[in-house]
Amino acid sequence: MGANANNSSINHELSIDAARLMDRIMSLAEISPIAGGGNCRLALTDDDRDGRDLVVSWMRDLNMEVSVDAVGNIIAVWNVGSGPPVMTGSHIDTVRTGGKFDGNYGVIAGLEVVQTCQQNGVTPDHPLAVGIFTDEEGARFAPDMLGSLVYVGGMTTEEALDITAIDGPRLGDELVRIGYAGSAPCPGVIPHAFVELHIEQGPLLEANDVRIGAVTGVQGISWQEVTIVGQSNHAGTTPMSLRHDPTYVAAEIAVFLRKLSARYGSHQVCTVGKVDVFPNLINVVAARVTMTLDIRNTDEYLLQRAEMEVAAFLNEIATSEGVTITTKKLARFEPVEFDERVVAVIEQISNDLGNTTQRMPSGAGHDAQMLARVCPTAMIFVPSINGISHNPAEDTETDDLVAGANILLHAMLNLCSTDFAKV
Ligand code: GLV
Ligand code: MN
Ligand code: MN
Repeated sequence: MGANANNSSINHELSIDAARLMDRIMSLAEISPIAGGGNCRLALTDDDRDGRDLVVSWMRDLNMEVSVDAVGNIIAVWNVGSGPPVMTGSHIDTVRTGGKFDGNYGVIAGLEVVQTCQQNGVTPDHPLAVGIFTDEEGARFAPDMLGSLVYVGGMTTEEALDITAIDGPRLGDELVRIGYAGSAPCPGVIPHAFVELHIEQGPLLEANDVRIGAVTGVQGISWQEVTIVGQSNHAGTTPMSLRHDPTYVAAEIAVFLRKLSARYGSHQVCTVGKVDVFPNLINVVAARVTMTLDIRNTDEYLLQRAEMEVAAFLNEIATSEGVTITTKKLARFEPVEFDERVVAVIEQISNDLGNTTQRMPSGAGHDAQMLARVCPTAMIFVPSINGISHNPAEDTETDDLVAGANILLHAMLNLCSTDFAKV
């Protein structure tokens, strides 16, 4: 099957079933729908379990061998060919205000690849595997990409199981509760290669009128939680000059991040996505604010510099405002470069199938960035309408979703016959 990285020879007759792909995406989206057309399936909730149960039933319908490991990663293998599998996959957990496509598309397209091969008598040289990785979003349990991180041995199972959710429970207990504490070995099998298909979640492809992104890497991510403790007091009687107000300090931190991003240039992004104020009342100067900082850059040196500047600012403002500031690291991943050989396969197949294609880095975090630690890896992006994601309005044209799934199909077949020792 297929060819090597520099010479794709595609069977143009072989293509995925567009209606089936869309049916499955829409069926999964019927679990835990929210207003505006999106989904809320925070990791390891009952909704996540219902989504898992549905996708696992589809995996079993395809006679795939389904295993679940100690952190709930689900790996389904179609046992054909020999050697380690060529793997695809993504996640089906969502943020609280998630869309239908983030993660779900990649998993469902993987099943489409397997079913298309099975129905057309195509027998790849390697097994094909589809993974659903636990808690990619990190919205309920930090860090993000937690399941794939553990899958590649980047965090111990014990450490992961002890992480607590933003709403209290321990990850290990939630896995047992929803019936997804498995026994498959972890770290898991190292794939022959890994390709993840995903919506772009940003505006670049659409702005450039390009259908496919051949993703060259993922920017670095730094997450921390900042807790500011001040002096709670009466809103009417406390003179401004005597205040130690954590809400004011939180606002100054948000402004500092915005200005820092402007100074560092377009590769620097900073977000304050979660702010909890206590006691959160109109006429009380707050006692405490807890806020999250999400700081990302494609350049590790600049990311470190940004982190140092933020730390210095926190010290400075704690002193000047007479508050106490403590920080807790939630996630820290360096920028990742994908495997040039896999990027080239994706780019060539996309072009051969008649798609406009560009190379680009990913602004969002993805499971592929963890798999890249252990095997040749890259990603395929399709456009997001208006660049909107992590929002129920997230959407992608059906033709683009179908084009991406066909590239995944041919890329996986190509990688089955790529001898990485030789290319
Ligand atoms: C995951 O979606 C992330 O990039 O935050
Ligand atoms: Mn995702
Ligand atoms: Mn996401």
